[in-house]
Parts: sequence; structure tokens; C-alpha cells
Amino acid sequence: MELEEKIAAFKGVEACVVFQSGFAANAGTVSSILGKEDFILSDELNHASIIDGARLSRAKIKVFRHKDIAHAEQLLQEVQNEPGRKLLITDGVFSMDGDIGPVDKLADLCEKYGAIMMVDDAHASGVLGRNGRGSVDHFHATDKVDVQVGTLSKAIGALGGYVCGSRDLIDYLYHRARPFLFSTSHPPSVAATCIAAFDILENEPDRIERLWANTAYFKQQLTNAGFDVGGNTTPKSETPITPIIIGDGRRTMDFSRALFDAGVMATGIAFPTVPEGKARIRTIMTSEHTREQIDRALETFTSVAKKTGILQA
Ligand SMILES: Cc1ncc(COP(=O)(O)O)c(C=O)c1O
Repeated sequence: MELEEKIAAFKGVEACVVFQSGFAANAGTVSSILGKEDFILSDELNHASIIDGARLSRAKIKVFRHKDIAHAEQLLQEVQNEPGRKLLITDGVFSMDGDIGPVDKLADLCEKYGAIMMVDDAHASGVLGRNGRGSVDHFHATDKVDVQVGTLSKAIGALGGYVCGSRDLIDYLYHRARPFLFSTSHPPSVAATCIAAFDILENEPDRIERLWANTAYFKQQLTNAGFDVGGNTTPKSETPITPIIIGDGRRTMDFSRALFDAGVMATGIAFPTVPEGKARIRTIMTSEHTREQIDRALETFTSVAKKTGILQA
């Protein structure tokens, strides 16, 4: 309870419920608030846990093109006279490309068409907004977003997921969200770790400044070295998630392995996690990387890329 109260106060909402993971939070929430008579409108690049929750709910699924407000509006118009609830969901920050969802504009659409607005802020928590309150805070949209999901497994550095919203929503989830009801919750050590992490976010904003400074430096140096860090064939990263687009899956995995052998762990991501032909090394900066570590990583990326033909020697 103490962790849930802490998160609700941090986010400036009435209440919060903590799940075992961000995956369980998304899937458990979507599947319990919608039924087969309802509609879900979802960005095409939303996280798998939202897709699975939508399938479990048996609601009718409508997918809008990535960050395409006009397409989202068209879909809302198509269903506006149908009976049933309409839930529109976007990621606050997209996990594979690091671009930011148009939370404010989508929230305005939800107001216009009477839809419920939900944001998955897994990658925005601890990164965007005041003291890392997330994308909803970044867009000053707290009053317009009904359901805010986040994880405790990324910037918070522990394990778990949470849902923030009205007292009624959270009480409903306590009684209806199946992963909350039928699965064991965290041990106290995890809750204590998370509470300490929220204290750090509240009291040490300089960490977020360092995170953004490191991000800007790393992206710029990668670009200078000739890497494709997104924005050509993929959405452009606007956050610490920085993909290095390689294209071919096999080449990407070989590059990742060669980087590891040279002392840098950088995970390759290929189909089906990302579309075919858009395989990448997915990197992310933290506030705690030193300039020396970043420079060493950059040197390794460049020398290995030249050896393996990803960059011209
Ligand atoms: C956008 C997004 N939502 C939800 C999740 C699930 O979070 P967790 O790893 O805490 O289950 C992830 C993580 O993989 C994610 O990237």
C-alpha cells in the first residue's frame, strides 16, 4: 500500500495499483475493463502486452497507423455510434524506436469522442516530465488521461508495473484484474527498492539532467561516426532509447556478438520483435554512464562496425 500511495502522489492522481510486471499491468487492465461489446483503438507499434490484453478482452480491435492522429480520429468516427466503450491506447515512448507518442493530441480526440484514454508510460517514467513523472506530465495531460500504466522494471530499476487513475478504476482493478487477483505480489524487498527509487527521482533531479546530456552526446557521436540512429526508414528517436539501424537480422546479430567479444554488451533486435528489414542494435543511455565509458563504447562500436563492414573502413 505504501508504494501504491507513493506512486499515486508522485503522479498526481487519486489512486494506484501495483502488479507483478508492466506486462501484467497492461494485459490485466485492458482485459478487465473491456468486453466483447467494446472497442480498442491502438497504435500499430504499441507494446505486446497491450495487444495480448486486447485479445483477452475479446473487444473489437482497431489499429491506427503509428502516431497518425487523423487515422485515429477516422477510426473513432467509425465506431462512435456503436454501443460499447471505446478505449484508445498509446505508448508514451515507443520501446523499439524511442519516439514519443502524441499523448496530448490523442487525449483531445478522446475528449471529443467520449473515449477512455490510456497511456503505457513504461519508457517515459523516470525520463520525461517533471522529475520523471512521465509523458502524461510532459504534455500537461494528467486531467485528460484516464489510465496511466508504468513499469518499475526500467528507470525505477526493480521489478513490477503499476496502473494509476481514479479511485473507482483502481478499486475495480483490485477486484477484476486477474494477474492482480490470482498471482502472488512482490516481496517487501521489491516494494522498498521501488519506494527508494521514487525518493531518488523526487530528490535528485540532476540525474535526469545527466541522462539527457549523455543521450545527446551519444546520439551526436554515433551520427558523426556514420551510424543510422533512426529517422530514415524508422521513426526518429527522441529519448535515451537509441536504435542503431542495421536492417538485416543476421548481420545485426553478428554485429551484436562481435561487440560483445570486444567488451560491449549491446543487444540485437530482429524480426518478429521489429519488422523484417529493420533489425537494429538497441542501445539506451543511463544517467550513471561516465563520459569515459561512453567514449569507450563509441570507439568499440566504430572499430567493430568497420571490421564487419557495417561502416566503411
Ligand atoms: C512499452 C512497454 N510496455 C510494457 C512493458 C512491460 O514491462 P515489464 O518488463 O515490466 O513487464 C515493456 C517492457 O518490455 C515495454 O517496453
